[in-house]
Amino acid sequence: MADSVTLRQTDVFDANYEEIYNLREEVLRKPIGLSLKDEDLSSDVKDVIFVAEKDNKIIGCVMMHPSDDIHTLKLRQMAVYDAWQGKGIGKLLVTRAEDYCRQHNANRIVLHARITAEPFYEKLGYVKTSGVFTEVGIPHVKMEKEIA
Ligand SMILES: CC(C)(COP(=O)(O)OP(=O)(O)OC[C@H]1O[C@@H](n2cnc3c(N)ncnc32)[C@H](O)[C@@H]1OP(=O)(O)O)[C@@H](O)C(=O)NCCC(=O)NCCS
Repeated sequence: MADSVTLRQTDVFDANYEEIYNLREEVLRKPIGLSLKDEDLSSDVKDVIFVAEKDNKIIGCVMMHPSDDIHTLKLRQMAVYDAWQGKGIGKLLVTRAEDYCRQHNANRIVLHARITAEPFYEKLGYVKTSGVFTEVGIPHVKMEKEIA
């Protein structure tokens, strides 16, 4: 379970970046009939990526993107393979991302949550800051958390 899963910080230059890309495609794009191939991913180079690994296979990821405010980071591309969902991996990744914020003097995380994932973020202390809007063709809300 989650206790035998390891977390690692990386970026798009990771030797196994293809695995991260495939995870994003499989969990975040295919189910909504889209593909990362059709998106401009050039700003991904700015992101810090955290991956969860089990037996050297990447099973979850989250990406932290800089914002105009140096004390605020944007959490994005939060994904855990179906078979690993509900086992605490997402929570581990978000907690690790929050630790990263603290270590880098950031005090706020913002994100666009799919409304299906809103309860997940709520459980982790994120609060809704907008009404529902459409992104990648599906309903989202803005959420944020002050990182103490
Ligand atoms: C949303 C997602 C990242 C959550 O990761 P996960 O590893 O399944 O979540 P965890 O097991 O760490 O869950 C942590 C807590 O949130 C709850 N939770 C997780 N997903 C939930 C959901 N969709 N609805 C309600 N509660 C949820 C869990 O029950 C758990 O509660 P507990 O602490 O009381 O036991 C994962 O389900 C996923 O990849 N979903 C598909 C892609 C997606 O929607 N990504 C988010 C885009 S904004």
